[in-house]
Parts: sequence; structure tokens; C-alpha cells
Amino acid sequence: MRILSGIQPSGTMHIGNYLGAVKQWVDSQSPEAFYCVVDLHALTLEIEPSVLREQTTDCVASLLAAGLDPEICTLFIQSHVPYHARLSWLLECVSSYGELSRMTQFKEKAERQEGYRVGLLTYPVLMAADILLYSAALVPVGEDQRQHLELTRNIAERFNNRYGEIFAIPEGVQPPAAARVMDLQEPTRKMSKSISSPLGSIYLLDEPADIEKKIKKAVTDTENEVRFDWETKPGLSNLLEIFSSFEGSAPELIASRYTRYGDLKNDLAALVIEVLTPIAKRYRELRSDPVSLRTIVYQGAEKATEVAAPVYYRAADAMGLVQ
Ligand code: AMP
Ligand code: TRP
Repeated sequence: MRILSGIQPSGTMHIGNYLGAVKQWVDSQSPEAFYCVVDLHALTLEIEPSVLREQTTDCVASLLAAGLDPEICTLFIQSHVPYHARLSWLLECVSSYGELSRMTQFKEKAERQEGYRVGLLTYPVLMAADILLYSAALVPVGEDQRQHLELTRNIAERFNNRYGEIFAIPEGVQPPAAARVMDLQEPTRKMSKSISSPLGSIYLLDEPADIEKKIKKAVTDTENEVRFDWETKPGLSNLLEIFSSFEGSAPELIASRYTRYGDLKNDLAALVIEVLTPIAKRYRELRSDPVSLRTIVYQGAEKATEVAAPVYYRAADAMGLVQ
């Protein structure tokens, strides 16, 4: 089954990205899976060019360190395959201003700045192009991308109705637990690369001592009953979901093993450290060899182009562009 997903190179990867998306990517990799570092998306907010350059390579190394194998799946950088931007324009011409301005993520991000970039508004259309170019059946993403996925399906259906059956209609796939990892300090807000309290996010490359500190200081509640209940215990339930996702068992079951918050936090910290330490080690090895990383993504872009180019040309032809 064809799979496509993407991640922005706009900061260090946190366990929200890992559990919500990247772990699913690793678990479902196959020759039919395409994963991209969406550098064009990162341009929708102000970012220093030298920082974008570094973070794009960091992101490639993090994905490989987390377990993506370029011998099995295709890993590439979005801007290396020019058909993404080209199809995005065609899709902009079947999208409406109204539907784009209603996107929650757009409204949240636009609210925080004056004179936001037009790309911030059209960003989900570029994401639709990413997905539709590969005729993806499945798109593994965190919960925050559900609305963008729905928009992608609407755009694809509208295009197919107007111009002929060119695009496959994709489905979003979310993990059974941790589809929305919350900030450890403010458990009513999602863990985020852009806005986060210093102790609120655990990064893939955090030192063990920092991981331990962040989990120990995670906000819970003043009761002392270990129970999985998002309504009344968001902080504790967030820790239980993280635990559940790392361990692979149900959060209620994990809750039943503990009577004290402290014991739960200690065991969770040990588990997170056990999983992240080898990833951080592999990251440092991979990141020290940028030439090999570049070779991997160039080869990835070649494979991606073989799939994306014919779909782009069919869409352009269907719309009446002379071939
Ligand atoms: P981004 O960093 O915004 O490019 O997101 C990359 C992937 O991580 C997307 O599939 C997101 O849905 C997912 N993601 C981001 N933040 C979280 C979070 N706090 N919890 C779960 N998934 C997340
Ligand atoms: N918009 C996604 C995010 O911010 C990243 C993304 C871009 C993506 N293109 C995609 C995800 C295509 C899945 C498929 O997280």
C-alpha cells in the first residue's frame, strides 16, 4: 500500500513528532513508502537561511537515526523534487480562499503575527500536492494534521470530478496512543517545536539527565490516585499515553500497576532513556558524515521523481496545459 508523509525541518524533533508520526513511519516502511523533509513548508514562517540549511540535514539524520532505512523506503527532501511546487499551483486553482482561511492551524499561526506570509495560507495545498503526487493510500500523521488531510481529500475529489480521475483519495493514519502528545508543563497544549516551555518538550537528542528532570517535573495534579482520565487528569494521562506508546500496552493497564506518581515517573524516565539513547548515538554518527546523508537524499529524490513526475503531467494535461 502506497504511503507518504512529511515533517518540517523547523526545529529539533520531539517525542510528539516521534510517537505521533515518525515511529509509525519506521514501523510501516516498505518500498512503497515515501517520506520527505518538507523544507518548502518551513519557509511559511520566518527562518534564517543558514538555520534552515542546518536543520534540514539534522532532520534527515534524525529520521535515519530513528530507524528509517533508505534501502527499504524512500527518504528525500521536498524541494529536490520540483513537482511538489508545480502541482501545488495547479491545486491552488481548484481550492478556495474560504476553505483555506478556515484551517485551524492557519488561524492560530496567523493570529500570532502581523503581515503573515501568503504561504501560511496556502500551506495545506502544498501538503495536498505532496500526498497526491504519490497516489498515497495512507498518510501516517499526528492528530493535528487531521483537518489538513480532510482538505486534501476534498481537493482531490473536486479535481477528479472536474478534470477526470487522476488522484487517489488518501486516508490519514494515527497511532493507537500518543496521536497528540501534550506539553509536559501545560498538558492542555500540544507539545510543539515552535511554542514550548523549557521543560515542556522532550527532544530526541536530550541528555538522559534532562529527560529524567523533565519527566520528574511534569505537571500532574494534587490527588494521588493513578488513573487514566483525560478530563480530570490531563497531565498524568499524557504521561500514561507516552508510556503506553513506548511500551506498546494500554494506558489503563499501565495505570493499574502504580499507586504512586513518583514510581510511574521513574519507570517512564528509564524507558524513554532506554529508547532514545541509542537514537541519539546513531544521530551523532550519521550527522558527522554529511556527504553520505546527501547521497541518500539525492538517491531518494530520484526515486521520488519517477513516481511524482507522471502524476504531475497527467494532472497538468487534464487541466488543459499543452504537453
Ligand atoms: P511537524 O513538526 O509540524 O512537521 O510535524 C511532523 C509530524 O509530527 C506530523 O505528523 C504531526 O502531526 C506530528 N506531531 C507534531 N506534534 C505532535 C504532537 N505534539 N503529538 C503527536 N504528533 C505530533
Ligand atoms: N503539515 C505537516 C506538519 O506540519 C507536514 C507535512 C507536509 C506533511 N506535507 C505533508 C505530512 C504530507 C503528511 C503528508 O506536520
